[in-house]
Amino acid sequence: EATHLPSPVPTRSGVVAHRGASDEFPELTLIAYQQALEQGAEALEVDVRLTADGVPVLLHDPRTTRVGDRDLWVHSSTLEQLSGLDVGSWHPVHSSPEPVLTLRSFLVLAEAYPHVRLFLETKHPVPTGGRVEVALRDELAYFGLDRPAAFADSRAVMMSFSVMAVRRFRQLAPAVPTVQLRERRNVLKSWPAEGFGAQLMGPSIAAIRSRPWLVDYWRSRGMGTYCWTVDDPADLLLCRDLGVDWVGTNVPSRALAVLDGP
Ligand code: G3P
Ligand code: CA
Repeated sequence: EATHLPSPVPTRSGVVAHRGASDEFPELTLIAYQQALEQGAEALEVDVRLTADGVPVLLHDPRTTRVGDRDLWVHSSTLEQLSGLDVGSWHPVHSSPEPVLTLRSFLVLAEAYPHVRLFLETKHPVPTGGRVEVALRDELAYFGLDRPAAFADSRAVMMSFSVMAVRRFRQLAPAVPTVQLRERRNVLKSWPAEGFGAQLMGPSIAAIRSRPWLVDYWRSRGMGTYCWTVDDPADLLLCRDLGVDWVGTNVPSRALAVLDGP
């Protein structure tokens, strides 16, 4: 069973590269993660979906309209169909042809950076309900990332907006810490959040701006905070001052400069 965070106030929020260094590079691609690592990100965030043939891949949206050179539904396309896609050329800053990453190839990259934390979010198209958590557990087991560990030592963290998905994953992989994601509109809905057993709460920055006291409240109940998506320097400083444990940002280089600054 994953142990709860001792929840001391962190000395400074850890920087999670949200979809990689995704402001400057196409999200969820190898180059975005390599750049995030070069910039010194302390953790990487990914979105996981299942293909029609059950392969976990890194894509945020249910279909590829926004980032792909062809429009496909992820859940009804095979890995082979998705493999032919270019999900990099659309990017306004760094346009280069990039393939869809499988979770397996992402974890191979991550293996070379054992000190970097992995924040793995499952997405929930109705047709694949439940199977994506099983696929994530299987991939983590393949890399030995599902072993019992205190959160302080644990590399992989599962997260979801879905309360059911977090609960389901805790049964599948009890040693892996979880994050219960929340938007501003439902940040209080999960009250009391500890009922879900997540080690961390994952509010949006809008939720924290409107209810900053939540960070202390959760800490007093043994839970840490992962706040997303924090790109603005004032928001980064707010998170730091509140003792937010982790900030998800599209601009890891800026976040590190701001958080380590005077
Ligand atoms: O890291 C959590 C955050 O990514 C949730 O929102 O839509 O960017 O996946 P979204
Ligand atoms: Ca996400």
